[in-house]
Amino acid sequence: MHLSRKVFMTAQAPLVLILLGPPGAGKGTQAKMLENRVHLPHISTGDLLRDHIRQATELGQRAQTYMNQGHLVPDELILDMLFARVSLKDCDKGYILDGFPRTIPQAQALQQQLKGHPLPIVVNLDLSDTEVIKRLSNRVTCEKCGTPYHLLYSPPQTSGKCDKCSGNLIQRPDDREAVISKRLKVYHDQTEPLIAFYAEQKLLHTVNCAASQESVFTQLLTLITTKT
Ligand code: AP5
Repeated sequence: MHLSRKVFMTAQAPLVLILLGPPGAGKGTQAKMLENRVHLPHISTGDLLRDHIRQATELGQRAQTYMNQGHLVPDELILDMLFARVSLKDCDKGYILDGFPRTIPQAQALQQQLKGHPLPIVVNLDLSDTEVIKRLSNRVTCEKCGTPYHLLYSPPQTSGKCDKCSGNLIQRPDDREAVISKRLKVYHDQTEPLIAFYAEQKLLHTVNCAASQESVFTQLLTLITTKT
């Protein structure tokens, strides 16, 4: 599969790729793989919030309660944080959004922000609730670089250690069973409507994420190549 890196390196206009999908669909996994291939930064609102929590900022303290209970963090806290991040120099050629937008008001705010720019590529990473539960209950994440592993499907080479940076692998507080159910309900109520929102604008593409990581990745690369 030859994806021309030049497409991304010489693009005049920024390329914005939006990865939608339920918790555990593989948004973070695919965004990290794409980041290395297409040289666009991976911007995860979940990771940005977890950084704030680690640094004990005021935003982090406010967000933590919502996150640990599986609720969404209020839009007004998310929007400033996200737009500050994508205004940095490394996003000039574009970026990959993971976990944003998650509500219709967030999608409308992004649309406003991208006015005058090329339309984003929106991909819905589709996965059943049953598979979501299997994936999240066996996920461990590197506390240093955020790389996700699955204890059955993609275990680390050394137990408890990240293959990439040797950081410790931890279970996220929101990957406990009760919180996973809550996150799924919140997803269906508040985030799933984005599928119709982007479908109406003829921007939506869907990839079945029940396939292997490599197969999903190949499908995403093909899609990006044909759209740029
Ligand atoms: P966030 O961190 O964004 O969590 P999420 O969207 O729930 O998604 P996850 O990170 O849980 O899953 P993922 O799709 O990235 O899957 P992964 O690649 O890890 O958000 C956390 C919280 O922050 C939210 O609940 C909310 O409170 C708050 N928040 C964040 N953004 C917000 C926003 N915009 N507005 C309001 N609040 C916000 O993969 C999962 C597992 O499956 C891993 O173990 C992986 O190894 C494995 N896996 C991946 N792909 C495959 C495959 N193809 N086959 C087999 N296993 C696979």
